[in-house]
Amino acid sequence: MNASKHPVPEARWPSQEEAAASRVFSPGRIGPVETSSRTWVPAMVPWRCTEEGFVTPEILDWYGRLADGRPGVLVVEATGIRDIPSGPLMRAGHERFVPGLQELVQVVRERSGGETRLFIQLIDFLTIRRRPEREAWVRRFLSVEPRHHEAVRALGHEPADDGALRELLLTLEDEALFGILSESEVRDLEMGYREHVTDTHLPNIAELPDVLPGLFADAAGNAEAAGFDGVELHFAHAYTMASFLSAKNDRDDGYGGSREERVRLPLDVYRAVRERVDPALAVGCRFLGDEVIEDGGRVEDACHYGVAFAEAGMDFLSVSKGGKFEDAKQPKVGAAVYPYTGESGHECMPTVRIEGAAPFGRNLPLPRAIRAAVREAGHETPVVAAGGLNEFDLMERALEDGSCDYVAAARQSLADPDWWAKMRGGEGATIERCVYTNYCEALDQRHQQVTCQLWDKDKESRDVGGGAPRLSPDGKRRLTAPPRSS
Ligand SMILES: Cc1cc2nc3c(=O)[nH]c(=O)nc-3n(C[C@H](O)[C@H](O)[C@H](O)COP(=O)(O)O)c2cc1C
Ligand code: SF4
Repeated sequence: MNASKHPVPEARWPSQEEAAASRVFSPGRIGPVETSSRTWVPAMVPWRCTEEGFVTPEILDWYGRLADGRPGVLVVEATGIRDIPSGPLMRAGHERFVPGLQELVQVVRERSGGETRLFIQLIDFLTIRRRPEREAWVRRFLSVEPRHHEAVRALGHEPADDGALRELLLTLEDEALFGILSESEVRDLEMGYREHVTDTHLPNIAELPDVLPGLFADAAGNAEAAGFDGVELHFAHAYTMASFLSAKNDRDDGYGGSREERVRLPLDVYRAVRERVDPALAVGCRFLGDEVIEDGGRVEDACHYGVAFAEAGMDFLSVSKGGKFEDAKQPKVGAAVYPYTGESGHECMPTVRIEGAAPFGRNLPLPRAIRAAVREAGHETPVVAAGGLNEFDLMERALEDGSCDYVAAARQSLADPDWWAKMRGGEGATIERCVYTNYCEALDQRHQQVTCQLWDKDKESRDVGGGAPRLSPDGKRRLTAPPRSS
């Protein structure tokens, strides 16, 4: 399974003249925002904020370095909208975050010579806990109910009280224990507890449709105050809004069931944001072209949503794929489930080891179908594609054949943040090419500062700006790409 099934193909790079005349480097428009090219760096979480969610010098380095390549649009990582602690993830759910975000905007303006348009991805996520130790879970977290006593009685046991029942459960083998627990209890024990949008018996989940539009709008207002050019609503992957769009959402309060009901809250969120911010701010979303899970939504659902979002007036539609909790691998005891470990996760960030088609442009059929549906419905909303887009001809073709209007590259931009500028300048031969084996993603999984394995080939060079290279706490990894070598 470790062998590379799809070696990264040789690439042909354009001359400066060819690049200047290309689609990739032609100007574009995202609603009110003009972009210098059709190039895009999608959101990537680098795990570099403070524990309170504030911008740090390391964050400024990270985005400054990405801005050096002058992509048309750079999207800042998934940023929390709530005013709750969430580890070193960026946050925008309070005015106190605005000064740090302002600094970030400033750095990107300077390092890109004012060329890159800066968007921020806004996210909401539900509670998720680490996989518990069996003893701790049975003794402390299992809520004992009469049905548990009945089930053990049927097996011939008669525990005196709840405490005795817990001790009895701890003596059972998996099969017997799982036969006594409910499906959701088994899931909590095996995978770690997590909230679902369908847990409407929980007041905080029932009220999501009432509170989320305001929370997203407040965070978007803060992003606007910080000077961002656009907001990307995170409606993709494993998080709250994607779970509302999911075909598995069967809430019965008008926000689940049919496609129309599933898209209702995302539309409410969009409208609340649009009403809150200035018309000069671009507002769009990232959503899934396919959930890639059993009984999940397929491209037909995504086409329906794309048209609904365009109809509502969104300025762009960024299409991703998979990245769900439902098919994630069981985490180790003490770790939290990570939504990029199952098939849906592999489709989200495809590697050279993926089964079937090569990862390079593998997901393009999804944005192509969504774009066609949106055009058919009479909307010109730009569509952004991602997934293994790593060379000029591939991207040029994707723009030409109607797959998308913007080409996004996450890992290739990480591997060599200057790659856009090199390509545009006729210096493609000097590009450091991503090897698509997901060393970076493994760091993300462990919530460690994300870096690229290729940067460490050049560990000694000073950082852009002349300072000594900033390294990870163990001194083994560069925290930013080395400066451009040519
Ligand atoms: C380290 C890392 C962090 C990521 N964080 C986010 C994120 O915050 N939000 C998001 O929508 N996608 C995130 N992604 C997914 C990428 O934006 C992109 O969709 C995916 O990597 C496929 O594109 P690529 O083949 O160009 O890398 C992340 C990817 C990586 C590698
Ligand atoms: S770590 Fe590997 S997969 Fe990630 S950007 Fe670098 S080369 Fe690409």
